[in-house]
Amino acid sequence: MLMRNYKILAIESSCDETAAAVLIKNRAGFRAASNVVASQIKLHEKTGGVVPEVAARAHIQKIGLVVRQALTRASLRLAEIDYVAVTVGPGLTPSLLVGTEYAKALATASGKPLIAENHMLGHLYSALLHAPKMPMPSMNLIVSGGHTYLIFLRQPGDFKIIGQTVDDAAGEAFDKVAKMLKLDYPGGPEVAKWAERAEKSRGAVDYNFPRPMLHAKNYDFSFAGLKTAVLYKIKNDRLNIRDPKVRANLCWSFQNAEVDVLVLKTLRAAKEFGAKSITLSGGVAANKQLRAVLGASAKKAGLKFFVPDFTMCTDNALMIAHAAAIRLENGYKFPALGKIKVDPNLELIDRVRK
Ligand code: KG4
Ligand code: ZN
Repeated sequence: MLMRNYKILAIESSCDETAAAVLIKNRAGFRAASNVVASQIKLHEKTGGVVPEVAARAHIQKIGLVVRQALTRASLRLAEIDYVAVTVGPGLTPSLLVGTEYAKALATASGKPLIAENHMLGHLYSALLHAPKMPMPSMNLIVSGGHTYLIFLRQPGDFKIIGQTVDDAAGEAFDKVAKMLKLDYPGGPEVAKWAERAEKSRGAVDYNFPRPMLHAKNYDFSFAGLKTAVLYKIKNDRLNIRDPKVRANLCWSFQNAEVDVLVLKTLRAAKEFGAKSITLSGGVAANKQLRAVLGASAKKAGLKFFVPDFTMCTDNALMIAHAAAIRLENGYKFPALGKIKVDPNLELIDRVRK
């Protein structure tokens, strides 16, 4: 039977952040006791992207220290932890393996049960951790580097996926446009920085890129065509991508188009499904324009809006601990450790309570 009060130690290593966190559940609700993230950005700057084996090696070097820090900051010993949780997918196989095998070793050594978590559920519930009174049902937009989802959440542990990307993910499009413009890694925040420059300057030009699938009668997204439209604009107009004004205009126009589609479709879905609130999560939720426009549109529609702070938008283990807690509270059947396997393509499946 589930304990009323418990402590979860979670590990996240699905891509390029080595992370560990402790979440405490007591009568007052959930409390973040620690949240440690070791970023590999500096390492991957050289290659302009994540090389999976390089990322895995860095995880191996850091994971022991990160877990120890998470426990120390929470003023706890491993023996005082009740559950260990870990991201088993989706992500990069070598990266996932490091976290998962480490978590299995911890669980074995401490005799504590292990919870296998889906990274995307971590993102989904990340807004809820700091807004536990969010009115339900809610419409949730998850925009990360590898995935884009619109999810209708009736209650924690009861949700339905109503839309996703048919090609590139929201963050992937940002990253690809950044590469096209020869911007630094990671691309998303760089595109955002250049877009902000245009927004603040007087003579900025919006090239009015297409808004893919905006009027489609579903809630799916497609960003590959938008990315190609940016490429053709550069080629056909022979734009000099080294010119700061051109760069700023291209980033701004691209961002305007992507934000438009994300916001309008989320709002439409929220209305059709009768949602009382909207949440935004995943790495692209760190984008200031997306946060501002979605927030303002939700307010205008009379809906509550929640977006986690920046550190909870990008990958971290606290969101994994929280998702694992929700899984526990909804009756989790612990698999044997040997049955827990990483899955780089782990899918998110509807979980509808009768
Ligand atoms: O959720 P996340 O940290 O990792 C995945 O689970 O994929 O998301 C990373 C994605 C990357 O594509 C990155 O470029 C994008 O989030 N990103 C941003 C911003 N910050 C991170 N995209 C647009 N604007 C930002 N400020
Ligand atoms: Zn993520």
